Amino acid sequence: MTILVTGATGTVGRQIVTQLVERGQPVRALTRNPSAARLPASVEVAYGDLAAPKTLGPALEGVTALHLITFGGDDYAPLQTGPDLVELAVKAGVRRVSVLSGWDESSVEEALRAGDLGWTQLLCVEFMANALDWVTSIRDEGVVRVFGNHPGAVIHEADIAAVAVAALVEEGHAGQAYMLTGPETLTPAERVRMIGEVLGREIRFEELSEEQYRASMRAAGESDDMIEFAVQLGANPPEASAVVLPTVEEVTGRPGRTFAQWAAENAAAFRP
Ligand SMILES: NC(=O)c1ccc[n+]([C@@H]2O[C@H](COP(=O)([O-])OP(=O)(O)OC[C@H]3O[C@@H](n4cnc5c(N)ncnc54)[C@H](OP(=O)(O)O)[C@@H]3O)[C@@H](O)[C@H]2O)c1
Repeated sequence: MTILVTGATGTVGRQIVTQLVERGQPVRALTRNPSAARLPASVEVAYGDLAAPKTLGPALEGVTALHLITFGGDDYAPLQTGPDLVELAVKAGVRRVSVLSGWDESSVEEALRAGDLGWTQLLCVEFMANALDWVTSIRDEGVVRVFGNHPGAVIHEADIAAVAVAALVEEGHAGQAYMLTGPETLTPAERVRMIGEVLGREIRFEELSEEQYRASMRAAGESDDMIEFAVQLGANPPEASAVVLPTVEEVTGRPGRTFAQWAAENAAAFRP
């Protein structure tokens, strides 16, 4: 009776591992680099690469519930190995699966849809943790520069994790696709102001023109595809990104965490 968490060293996966440990659940964390995992001592760490399913045998042994990411590699390419992953999970005796989807579906969701494993899909538009992209400019210059200042119902990574944990340990979530948001909409300028309040210093907010934004992304070495994606997102975010949904509270029984809370928890990262 073990729960295997993939993406366990990442933003959401780390929170899933912590919350499962808090609930006294037996957790195994998957990583491509066990020596760098920095997970709690009580967590069993297993080597495995989701892009190379043959490496996953030991990690899946005795696993009855599985949290899956849908990308493989540091370029976030969608996994092509969905059918193998689902076949291995079924053979191992997995009965519950939660999946953190990206913006586009991958072979993982396709394979799950084609099979009869009970699974729960988690969908989000924007993580609160994306504000960590502002760390360097806040620390070094006391400024945040963004393209587009649209409101977004950003979600705390611990709330995504709380929904995943519910899906992994409780009955009644199989077959659900949960669209997850935070409890309020905030523009980037409002989020920057809240970080400044927590730090006790004013952080300037500068809105970039499209040209300035493209130039800054080129200077940061981003690919053409990534630049195009980010520009479209900044100019025309999806309507869903500014709609607050009650899903987190309905599933977990507690209201979604606020950005003020996220900023307080992460203040140290923004301090010089
Ligand atoms: N950021 C947003 O606003 C947003 C919004 C909607 C959806 N999403 C989705 O959320 C997901 C990102 O989640 P996150 O931010 O929690 O991830 P993250 O912090 O970037 O963490 C990446 C994790 O993936 C693992 N990983 C990468 N390739 C792997 C492979 N081949 N085999 C096994 N593990 C692998 C890494 O493990 P090791 O390095 O330890 O092996 C690490 O734990 C993406 O699917 C993204 O599309 C993000």
